[in-house]
Amino acid sequence: MEDTLRIKGGIPLKGTIRMQGAKNAALPVMAASLLLRDATLVMDNVPELKDITTMVDLLRVLGADITFSDHRVVVTVPDSVSWETPGELVQKMRASSLVLGPLLAREGRAVMPLPGGCSIGSRPIDLHLKGLAQMGASIDLRHGAVHASTKGLKGCRIYLDFPSVGATENLLMAAVLAKGETVLENVAREPEIVNLADVLRKMGAKIEGEGTGVLTIQGMADLSAASIRIIPDRIAACTYLLAGVITNGAVTVEDVIPQHFDSLLAKLEEASVEVHSMEGSVSVVPSQERMKAVSMKTLPYPGFPTDVQPQLMAVMSLARGTSIIKESIFESRFLHASELKKMGADVELQGNTAIVTGVHSLNCADVVASDLRAGAALILAGLATQGETVVHGMSHVERGYERIKENLMALGAQVSSVVSSKR
Ligand code: EPZ
Repeated sequence: MEDTLRIKGGIPLKGTIRMQGAKNAALPVMAASLLLRDATLVMDNVPELKDITTMVDLLRVLGADITFSDHRVVVTVPDSVSWETPGELVQKMRASSLVLGPLLAREGRAVMPLPGGCSIGSRPIDLHLKGLAQMGASIDLRHGAVHASTKGLKGCRIYLDFPSVGATENLLMAAVLAKGETVLENVAREPEIVNLADVLRKMGAKIEGEGTGVLTIQGMADLSAASIRIIPDRIAACTYLLAGVITNGAVTVEDVIPQHFDSLLAKLEEASVEVHSMEGSVSVVPSQERMKAVSMKTLPYPGFPTDVQPQLMAVMSLARGTSIIKESIFESRFLHASELKKMGADVELQGNTAIVTGVHSLNCADVVASDLRAGAALILAGLATQGETVVHGMSHVERGYERIKENLMALGAQVSSVVSSKR
């Protein structure tokens, strides 16, 4: 059954949203629980999302005893776990590949189907595998699966060709149980990496440099129980703020860490949007004049996040002037452009660059979400458009946005979800 969201747009949103925990912090932290033996990891502020329950299912299948209720995950990992990850879970969620490093580090073996690509790109894991091989794993690709084994991972110096978030996380987790010192260079610096390093250190790992481009890890024989609070979701926070901007409303996001999305706040100021940033919350307020078009290039953190590029494109489609948007992280993350053009947006694609010329208004249409952030962009466009816009493929959006319909309604949006048979 395909879920759709019907949006009666044109209403300036008003109100405050308490931010959900970060999906992209919770997933690697859950995978890190596999580094424990006969010990328990407690996680708070975990968002209630489909991707999280998929990871719960995966940990359970591998042998962990896990509960997830009221935003709390409690996972106890036994002395030995299965090292074979079920294909259907990996295909369902490519972040399942984050169990590769922990399984290899503690069991000396891991078999995992190669995660498929998705609508935004081929999403290879070559950097993950290259780093693990440098640490002494033998890696065979057979019948579409990774067969990895090692007599014991050894610390070494690894330079990542690209600051991949997932590769940084997998190699960091593998290094904490490797023998000796590992130096990871040109790593990702996202806040989600810092949250992961925090929990690993609470488990007893010796890590330096998180949030910088170099991580230095002293391997340990084993780790111990810990608890952690997951950081707020900076991408969801940006999305709700942009819902306020595109409807010229007054929206506040609270329980956030503003410096985690400084890049967006700087862009909004450049666009003459009035932003108030306080301790733990950020607000956008209505302005008399139409926002100015701004240009942007997506970059690894602390640059502008690729996960907010679709949403910014939706906002820029109604700005005054022309915005040049360059996507440098994924090779095909412009599928939302064709859907925005169905609504009357003026977007011209030239390779990894989108030229967006602002129009005065968009038109309602039936549009289709290709991934969770593209879906978010289409919802924003619908919220700003008089009349009824229908967004198909809400199952993508619900992977990353907890209670998005309820949150939008709390801000005054007129939305309703419809479960209809697949077209
Ligand atoms: C994480 O994906 C996020 N997912 C993505 O969020 C996010 O868009 C991405 O980081 C970039 O910030 C999670 O954290 C679960 P990457 P990840 O490895 O780790 C290439 C969302 O919307 N690459 O940093 O898969 C890759 O193809 C999702 O919540 C290789 O070539 O991203 C891509 O072009 C979407 N080889 C670029 O690097 C590798 O071995 C960035 O990928 C690994 C990556």
